Amino acid sequence: MICRSRLSQVLILLACLVPSLTLAASPEATYGANGMVTSRSALASEVGVEVLRDGGNAVDAAVATAFALAVTYPSAGNIGGGGFAVIRLPDGKVVTLDHREKAPLSAHRDMYLDEAGEVIRGLSTSSHKAAGVPGSVDGLLLLLETHGTMSRKRLMAPAIRLARNGFALDFDLARQFRRRLPSMEAYPASIAKFSDDGKAFEAGDRWRQPDLARTLARIFGKGRAGFYEGPVAEKIVAEMESGGGDITRADLAQYRSVWRDPVRGTYRGHEIWSMGPPSSGGVLLVQILNMLEPFNLAELGWGSAATVHLMVEAERRAYADRAEHLGDPDYYAVPQAALTDKAYASRRFSDFDPDRVAASDAIGPGDTNLPTESRETTHFSVMDGGGMMVAFTTTLNSGYGNKIVVPGTGILLNNEMNDFSIRRDTPNQFDLIGRDANAIEPGKRMLSSMTPTIVTKDAEPLLITGSPGGSTIITTTLQVIVNVIDHGMGIDDAVAAPRFHHQWKPDTVIHESRALSPDTKALLEEKGHSFREARFGRGIGDANSILFRDGVMHGAKDPRAQGGAVGY
Ligand code: GLY
Repeated sequence: MICRSRLSQVLILLACLVPSLTLAASPEATYGANGMVTSRSALASEVGVEVLRDGGNAVDAAVATAFALAVTYPSAGNIGGGGFAVIRLPDGKVVTLDHREKAPLSAHRDMYLDEAGEVIRGLSTSSHKAAGVPGSVDGLLLLLETHGTMSRKRLMAPAIRLARNGFALDFDLARQFRRRLPSMEAYPASIAKFSDDGKAFEAGDRWRQPDLARTLARIFGKGRAGFYEGPVAEKIVAEMESGGGDITRADLAQYRSVWRDPVRGTYRGHEIWSMGPPSSGGVLLVQILNMLEPFNLAELGWGSAATVHLMVEAERRAYADRAEHLGDPDYYAVPQAALTDKAYASRRFSDFDPDRVAASDAIGPGDTNLPTESRETTHFSVMDGGGMMVAFTTTLNSGYGNKIVVPGTGILLNNEMNDFSIRRDTPNQFDLIGRDANAIEPGKRMLSSMTPTIVTKDAEPLLITGSPGGSTIITTTLQVIVNVIDHGMGIDDAVAAPRFHHQWKPDTVIHESRALSPDTKALLEEKGHSFREARFGRGIGDANSILFRDGVMHGAKDPRAQGGAVGY
């Protein structure tokens, strides 16, 4: 057991003596021997851990946590969006579930362009047309059916209770709602849900969501038909028809999640298991680790100019490949085997110069750029005492999605369509561009960066991690892994350590303020790097992670945001 301080030792002792004790003090790790959940919402983590205490497995706890997050963390927790899950089963097999949203059947490549071929501002982000067909409910129910042990009723009851009875808003949520209200003005059901009759909520106010409680109760009663058919589906379609959206009854009825093979890599004797396309996360993670493996990062040192330069140069090359080669594998032949091959990484990195940056324009497939995602997504990690592990990342894309609540349902819709390349080689709302692999097609899934990841060593559990943060999701996940494996950090330090990010274009190292010391920065500048500090008050990522060592689960809630790591 890693003992970081006397205080930690006392807390571990207390945790053993008092099974129900919650220890959620970041950046000190939280400990558990029997089960653990770490997520962006302390209430949702508690819900998951209660399931574990009642004898549920990690999938049961993940399903309960995800439904609770739809109630307690509405910015990204959802039933109107989609996500991915990476699951290690007790026998060591790893499976992944893709419940990413899909383009409606009427979608087409130029749907966000006007007659002159210009991008119509806001249409792919802030309109009914921005919503993809939601996958979360189908995914969670399939996950439960396939690998869970408890009843839908047991796992959904806490979320229904939280929605019906309400809970006291903390400062974080009350402030988020207040800030979002202006963007919801056109949607009365959104204003009704996120305000007190038009007046901003204050911290401490009790927040009830009766419509969402009824929708969740319908899903618990009828299963997937409670969402994709019947009154809830009718209300979604009616809202689409009145607001000019595209999701039809057929779109909802046909939605199905997909079990996909995990992306598997190795790194210094560890096995890396992550999400494959339509997420770019796993492929890029393995590709970057492959490029780093021949170098001794431990010797180069955490945060040294040599290490940052090496990682940035690997990231630059991997992200250049993303723009050209990654998309929905059901529609586009993603060269996944080649991209994750160690020989390919070695060739791709053969022009690495330890003294100079490679100009992004000289790298990669022409002058294409990345499709991008907003920073608003959420990741949680779950582990049970039987070695079952779940890495789960879910999203509405932007915080609060397209801001549209479907009247009478409490469901907030996503704006995931903006994760497609809305026009080839034309900057989207984030000033970025994409290409054919991620062009819009009917029924296709939009490219994601979500990187829920499990690391094992000699096939035994080691680490569960992942993050929100748009294109920075992949490099955040990478840094947690490198911090643990190369730099020998405990999970609290590995998650709290300041982060940096490079995504090929823009040709800039984005970094948290403490990530680069002045002399490191000066050395990097000499090599040709330029920098942009992550916006004040906004760190990079929110990597709620669990490390398993010597029979003990060490959980870390990322200190950049609120939430809870709960173990028992
Ligand atoms: N919308 C964030 C992502 O899928 O990467």
